[in-house]
Amino acid sequence: MEQALARLEQLKENISEEINKAASKNALVEVRNMHLSKKAEINNMMALIKNFSGADKARFGQAINDIRQSLNELYDNRMRVFLDDEVSVKLASEQIDISLPGINYQAGGTNPVFLVRDEILDIFISMGYEVKEGRDVETDHYNFELMNIPKNHPSRDMQDSFYISENLLLRTHTSPAQARAMEEKKGEMVKVVCPGKCYRRDNDDMTHSHQFGQIEGLLVGKDINLAHLKATLDLFIKKMFGPKREIRLVSSYFPFTEPSVEVQVSCAECGGKGCPTCKDTGYIEILGAGMVHPNVLKMSGYDPNIYSGFAFGIGIERVAMLRYKVDDIRRFYQNDVRFLKQFVRK
Ligand code: DAH
Repeated sequence: MEQALARLEQLKENISEEINKAASKNALVEVRNMHLSKKAEINNMMALIKNFSGADKARFGQAINDIRQSLNELYDNRMRVFLDDEVSVKLASEQIDISLPGINYQAGGTNPVFLVRDEILDIFISMGYEVKEGRDVETDHYNFELMNIPKNHPSRDMQDSFYISENLLLRTHTSPAQARAMEEKKGEMVKVVCPGKCYRRDNDDMTHSHQFGQIEGLLVGKDINLAHLKATLDLFIKKMFGPKREIRLVSSYFPFTEPSVEVQVSCAECGGKGCPTCKDTGYIEILGAGMVHPNVLKMSGYDPNIYSGFAFGIGIERVAMLRYKVDDIRRFYQNDVRFLKQFVRK
């Protein structure tokens, strides 16, 4: 009995020392596998218990249990030190310096051309117009023929364009959207605005660009006359440029309208008296319009004896330039953030 207890004591000392000396988590686990597993000597010594009698049995059992418990506690404490170290190392390596300023993403804005386009559309939507987009690539038939511009018509020269093939081109104006809208409505009343890009082989300068935006307007119904057109555009101009602006219609020519007018708006600078901005005329040209030519109605399936209508074409950049007093059309396309930042959607 005493011998067995002495051996236990020795084991305790040896194993304690090994636990304390284990230099790593793995080494510590090895010590446990070797000395604290089921098959380890300490556990095997339990078998000796049957050799003892009475009080010795209990004393010996108690001794083994105490030693095992104290060794397990020692093991757990040592293991905790290793695990704590591991966490500290991990924390140190994953440290985030929250004092560094973050990456600043700036929200982009909307180009003034699109701001103005949406404003114009909103005004016409409020008057009951439907928005319909045409096509950027058009056929000669829609871009010219259906707009009463036959082959060899001199006005084709002014709208020289980018051809994809002999009969396919980048549209030179949004007017072909008129024909597409009438085709779709099949003799019903038409009341549409058609925004989109147009292309012309212009030499770019302060007021011309080879690509620009237009909004086409078309209203076809019964008993539509020039007074309706004038009232519509007057309302549009007042909403766009302010209630003090006046419009006047000046005789003009477009192949797809008869009569055709140029719409001028009273100069915002001088209020119509005459100044350098309006070249002393008191008015500034803003858009083209007119009563839809009977040929155009006829070609799109509307009987000109029953139907009449008006149309207009608004240059978006032109409106934007007047609205924001921009001196050069090219500023809209140059992506100069200092310029673009000044325009904010309301
Ligand atoms: N299509 C013309 C252009 O690009 C603009 C225009 C003028 C459209 C008169 C119209 C209109 O609908 O009636 O210059």
